[in-house]
Amino acid sequence: MENGQGIGLRNGFLRLLSGRQRTYQYTGEVIFEGRTALVTGAGRGLGRAIAVRLASGGARVIAVSRTAADLQTLPGATAEVMDVSDAGQCGRLSGYSPDFLIHNAGATLRKRLDEISLGEWRSVIAVNLTAAFLLARMFLPGMQDRGFGRIVLMSSVTAHTPAPARVAYAAAKAGVLGFTRGLALEAAPFGVTVNSISPGTFPTAMNEPILADRAIRESFLRKIPLGRLGRLEEVAAAVEFLCSSGGAFLTGADIRIDGGWTAQ
Ligand SMILES: NC(=O)c1ccc[n+]([C@@H]2O[C@H](COP(=O)([O-])OP(=O)(O)OC[C@H]3O[C@@H](n4cnc5c(N)ncnc54)[C@H](OP(=O)(O)O)[C@@H]3O)[C@@H](O)[C@H]2O)c1
Repeated sequence: MENGQGIGLRNGFLRLLSGRQRTYQYTGEVIFEGRTALVTGAGRGLGRAIAVRLASGGARVIAVSRTAADLQTLPGATAEVMDVSDAGQCGRLSGYSPDFLIHNAGATLRKRLDEISLGEWRSVIAVNLTAAFLLARMFLPGMQDRGFGRIVLMSSVTAHTPAPARVAYAAAKAGVLGFTRGLALEAAPFGVTVNSISPGTFPTAMNEPILADRAIRESFLRKIPLGRLGRLEEVAAAVEFLCSSGGAFLTGADIRIDGGWTAQ
């Protein structure tokens, strides 16, 4: 399996480097055959792109979100409809033993401190951070027993460069960074890697309210040295790499996929 994965990935990158595609294109190689991936927030946006990418690589995908209709249109995936921030509902996933846990479900809150209720604060922390704890606690023991596992958690550039009216989200996503590094140390002796991804600005439902406004969209573009928004498959490609044999020596890291935003 490890050799097969390595060859598939290497060929994929060679085609990327030699080709003239505008973006990383999936090459159709089966590098995850026999692996199971559990992807939260797989109904739309980045999570959906990740689920499609891992499934295309041969993984069996368990797709989780609260909206059944979104999951039903994901070909070949096993749909689990639930709120992952609720410990009771999350418990329904305990029958699975994924090799890859991708906790991508998240929600933002664009409010200043004095506008945030305790309930809203708890809700943002719950889906972005507490769900990572619940899911990792559920699936890490199985990964440790099998001596293999990949955990990928979704942070954000907002954890690195907080902005006004994003305090709850910044706190939750910064918490993901700390959780990732600490858990990476606990999991490393068992062959399990734990990493996070910090996306910059991607055109998903989460960003619709800001990107629909031309002036705000242009102000975002001015902050991005590469001069464009991210493409969903650019996050999916990073997850694919982290789950592949090529990513085996990377743990406790955060990968910023932000067009250079946080390099400034
Ligand atoms: N888009 C960006 O530019 C950007 C930048 C930085 C970080 N991120 C992070 O990347 C991740 C994905 O973002 P996105 O832009 O793809 O968001 P999105 O388009 O809003 O999609 C979020 C997905 O998560 C699901 N979800 C939300 N809350 C859930 C819950 N409590 N339980 C189960 N599923 C839940 C949603 O489905 P339901 O609502 O049907 O449950 C949906 O499928 C998030 O963690 C986000 O914070 C995104």
